[in-house]
Amino acid sequence: MHIPQNLQIKSFAEYKQWYKQSVENPEKFWDEIANQFLWKKKWNKTLEYDFNTPKVSWFKGGKLNITENCLDRHLEKLGNKTAIIWEPNDPDEETRHITYRQLYVKVSHFANVLKNNGIKKGDRVCLYMPMIPELAIAMLACARVGAVHSIVFAGFSSTAIASRINDSECKMLITANEVYRGNKRVNLKEMCDEALKQTPSIETVIVYRRTVEPTPMKSNRDKFWFDELQKVSKDCAAEEMDAEDLLFILYTSGSTGKPKGMVHTTGGYMVGSTFTFQNVFQPNENDIYWCTADIGWITGHSYIIYGPLCAGATTVMFEGIPSYPDYGRFWEICDKLNVTHFYTAPTAIRALAKHPLDYVKKHNLQSLKILGSVGEPINEEAWHWYNDHIGNGNCPIVDTWWQTETGAIMISPLAGITPTRPTFATLPLPGVQLALMDENGIEIEQKPIQAEGRLAIKFPWPSMARSVYNDHERYKNVYFSQFKGKYFTGDGAYRDATGNYRITGRVDDVVIVSGHNLGTAPIENAINEHELVAESAIVGFPHEVKGTALCAYITLHEGHNESDKLTSEIKKLVADTIGPIAKPDKIIFVGGLPKTRSGKIMRRILRKIASNETDALGDISTLLNPDVVDEIIVAFGK
Ligand code: PRX
Repeated sequence: MHIPQNLQIKSFAEYKQWYKQSVENPEKFWDEIANQFLWKKKWNKTLEYDFNTPKVSWFKGGKLNITENCLDRHLEKLGNKTAIIWEPNDPDEETRHITYRQLYVKVSHFANVLKNNGIKKGDRVCLYMPMIPELAIAMLACARVGAVHSIVFAGFSSTAIASRINDSECKMLITANEVYRGNKRVNLKEMCDEALKQTPSIETVIVYRRTVEPTPMKSNRDKFWFDELQKVSKDCAAEEMDAEDLLFILYTSGSTGKPKGMVHTTGGYMVGSTFTFQNVFQPNENDIYWCTADIGWITGHSYIIYGPLCAGATTVMFEGIPSYPDYGRFWEICDKLNVTHFYTAPTAIRALAKHPLDYVKKHNLQSLKILGSVGEPINEEAWHWYNDHIGNGNCPIVDTWWQTETGAIMISPLAGITPTRPTFATLPLPGVQLALMDENGIEIEQKPIQAEGRLAIKFPWPSMARSVYNDHERYKNVYFSQFKGKYFTGDGAYRDATGNYRITGRVDDVVIVSGHNLGTAPIENAINEHELVAESAIVGFPHEVKGTALCAYITLHEGHNESDKLTSEIKKLVADTIGPIAKPDKIIFVGGLPKTRSGKIMRRILRKIASNETDALGDISTLLNPDVVDEIIVAFGK
């Protein structure tokens, strides 16, 4: 394979040595890794940073195009190797195999469509697409011409699309007419049309026809993918990008209402995503690697597309859902495609573990060598089910901790190389300098003793997000203000006596539902839009399948009462504003919310009530309105 061997750590001793070097001389370490890639011009400064400003730049002055690393450089040796295997929603529809050469041609061809429609280096392009190869082609085509892609998960609502398009003033929207999801067909174009009523920056919409259904098109604005291809040639030279030029924006939830457009740049992201892919998953030449995430999330960006393709691997894209046509679909695909690496989320494992084992046993899973987990803490029970029934006790499980903001895996075992431990993400990857902070903001030194604290990172790494789009102040406030000179992750962590980390969950107002990062504020804002709602508070509570689910406590304006109709209107409002994933599992109408004397809602108390921990409410006497607590407990128990 085209993987330079010196990118891969091959023993635990080597891991320790690499880690040590990466801390002692980070610039030399990353220089050597970055040298393994194809650059049009070498950088003159490996790292410049200041965590107070904050400003970080890697490989300054270096020129490259990431698609030359994903595609062009593989053509000679891997041109006929399969780059993408696409598995459709319907098991009877044909699987598509796209070689590196074919992908190269398709990307170049579509890149010319972008150019022909006025897209230039630096322009933002929004992608709202299903899990079809054309999503990969469109994102790589953006990168080829130097346009910045902003992918919006195709489960988000029209309001969410519009706010993301407007925030980064996208010039073009690429979508599909419809998407298949299980036995449903969802009309994406309709959702886009609704969003497009409020997005003045969009000049062109390119529509891929996934189904034959008639699709209303607006003349001069909407164009079909295939028609546009007919107008242009198939050769497209890759635009020269600076290492610090934007590659993509990806929105993630924050503690306030507005999503944050995390900015990722070209050189560092490429080096980080590829290096971690190589080391965490340890792929070999003929492996078939499958990450079940949607490309609309960071996991799909880094570990379906950029990391695997830069490494010359074969990556699987699945259009459907794990329960269609039955709960054995994942395992049927592993069997059919001889999948060697399987990377999924704990919520999927828990959902599938609830169904009879026959769904697993019907399929031959002998091709599997390595299993991965991402997105939320994996509980002991799910870990063992995954290990015993999917891995047959033979496959290392890499529990990978990272974030949209980190761009690449930060803490994880290296499959088969470093030890695993159930529920622990274990050790930091080379180049990742973690810090566990106590409640006074002091770093808890690494001693051979266990400790718990807030997780921070004290040195830059190449794939880190450089800013929040158009709001650098927010980037500074959210990530660099909590602990001076350090990046704050928002997560809590436990470290055992040997230095293994277990992530204990968010310590801020972000809730991880089924592995999806949801801010409480945007959901509350959506609920508060209802004319009868006075106030609302969203908290997370433990859920058997989702890991954490959402509970909404709502107060109504005087003279109005709760009703089933109101409950469904509120759920619909959330689904329409954010997306169905943000719909609360429980809605509790209450007479008042517990508040501090300064008027701040005490979510801690609401969280305890939702988690049935009413005997651990702590001191409530300082509340402005302690009486509401008993009332809320009663309302919750109804
Ligand atoms: O709380 C952590 C959790 O997911 C958050 C990041 O979410 P997002 O940006 O959407 O990216 C998800 C995919 C990388 C983290 O702050 N998280 C992610 N992976 C793990 C995890 N929690 C525990 N264990 C993990 N392996």
